[in-house]
Amino acid sequence: MPSSNPGARPLTIALSKGRILEQTVPILARAELLPAEDVLRTRKLMVDGPGGVRFLIIRAADVCTYVEQGAADMGIVGRDLLLEYRPDVFEPLDLKIGRCRLCVAGPREVVEAGAPAPGSRIRVATKYDRITARHYMERGVHADIIHLYGSMELAPLVGMADRIVDLVETGNTLRANGLVEEETLYEISSRLVVNPASFATRKGLVAPVIQVFADAVEGGQ
Ligand code: PRP
Repeated sequence: MPSSNPGARPLTIALSKGRILEQTVPILARAELLPAEDVLRTRKLMVDGPGGVRFLIIRAADVCTYVEQGAADMGIVGRDLLLEYRPDVFEPLDLKIGRCRLCVAGPREVVEAGAPAPGSRIRVATKYDRITARHYMERGVHADIIHLYGSMELAPLVGMADRIVDLVETGNTLRANGLVEEETLYEISSRLVVNPASFATRKGLVAPVIQVFADAVEGGQ
């Protein structure tokens, strides 16, 4: 645990809002790093924690940016976003929360017709533009990427896309919209990430926090 050091910038940890946050709170509790306020309810974006730690409560897609820029020393973010944005951060720990899969899915008839042939052209709706582009480029398939911010499952239903690339956890959203999985691209979980400069210059603060997170993950297994 870092000790309080007046004058120094608090060790700053960026937390992803949304589904991950609910699973993050028990880890913070086991790590004895619980924020001073209920981060699931507060509208505050910056909340103090114990021992000179403070938390930023931000959109998952912004965590990489805050950590890469050094505005946060550390962050908790899904592997999906690390694969998409490939930020310049260290990734010392799999927190084993937010587990799901990044999948290609589509209407049954599309999936049963088989994977798109090299040289063919398809339309894919996703918020993971780069992962999707890489995936189909490697297979010689021309994928027109249709960028959406959410509810990807709707796109094939209205004829806007042939397939989607999206996170699947229970599969309920796919089923409810008559879509089936074609392929799993990556197994996803949330990761602790660290700004490289913080790791180098604030090691005395950062390393013990990585360790308490590691112990908290171990304790939750
Ligand atoms: C995510 C994801 C899928 C759904 C998968 O969306 O994009 O739509 O959850 O979960 P399931 O397999 O358990 O049904 P989310 O609810 O986070 O909202 P979004 O579509 O706005 O991203």
